[in-house]
Amino acid sequence: MNIAAGEGKPDQYGLVGHPVSHSWSPFIHGLFAKSTAQSLVYRLFEIKPEDFRRDVLKLFTSGVRGVNVTVPHKQAAADLVNELTPRAARAQAVNTIAFFEDTTLLGDNTDGLGLTVDLERNLKLTLADQRVLILGAGGAVRGVLGPLLERELRELVIANRTPLKAKKLAAEFADLGAVSGSGYAELAVQPFDLIINATSAGLRGEMPVLPDGLVGDQTVCYDMAYGRGQTPFTAWATAQGAALACKGWGMLVEQAAESFLLWRGIRPHTQTVLEALAEHA
Ligand code: ATR
Repeated sequence: MNIAAGEGKPDQYGLVGHPVSHSWSPFIHGLFAKSTAQSLVYRLFEIKPEDFRRDVLKLFTSGVRGVNVTVPHKQAAADLVNELTPRAARAQAVNTIAFFEDTTLLGDNTDGLGLTVDLERNLKLTLADQRVLILGAGGAVRGVLGPLLERELRELVIANRTPLKAKKLAAEFADLGAVSGSGYAELAVQPFDLIINATSAGLRGEMPVLPDGLVGDQTVCYDMAYGRGQTPFTAWATAQGAALACKGWGMLVEQAAESFLLWRGIRPHTQTVLEALAEHA
């Protein structure tokens, strides 16, 4: 059982990151709480990397029952918790922490499930035998590599600004399938079936510099980031002639529903929330 909150007060949850002000998670968890009749509040906690450990432990001792973790803390969160779910242990990255009454801090990773549900169920893509390129090699990528490789892709290429990080990450997941690491400039110029942006470059309005020729007229481009209008990545994908350029609203909602399930024991329906967000996207 989770730690008890004050009598009659809503239970407290939130998002820890740097930055967090752009996040739609309070809106999403607010709708989930309403639709499942759960009494909770969900707030944003802006925490710098140097303060992460101290400030997150303070949140839990002050009665917060769970947090989501975003850029750049997902790997630090895996080091902080004292228990990991199997999928978080495989990723060595955590996007959801639950605090239990016996003082266990449990780290989970719902990013992979969020991405694959959005790709397969919402966008109706088939991943088996596809050539997939993922941009970035940070905490966001770690969470999705296992679930993507389970789909028996033909090939998964991890490309990153710091190529060594991509190569190390590929080696760490090589037991799960055909995965390799690269820098951006060395990418073999041949269209991929799916290109996923998992860098945090878009948060500063930036976009990795990529060679031409990665996008063909059948290529689907998916930005794990989201926002109003085009992101730098979806603008690039559209200019390159992608068949489809999507933002990560669906992943955001699906990973949130899975976090909600860990915290509250009930999985909210996501369709009405996706529809509500579509009005803002
Ligand atoms: P997250 O949890 O979002 O993955 P992270 O672990 O800090 O956050 O990782 C950020 C990722 O975005 C990294 O792959 C980073 O590249 P480096 O490993 O070379 O730092 C990438 N990134 C951030 N800003 C970028 C930019 N302007 N151009 C290209 N890549 C960028």
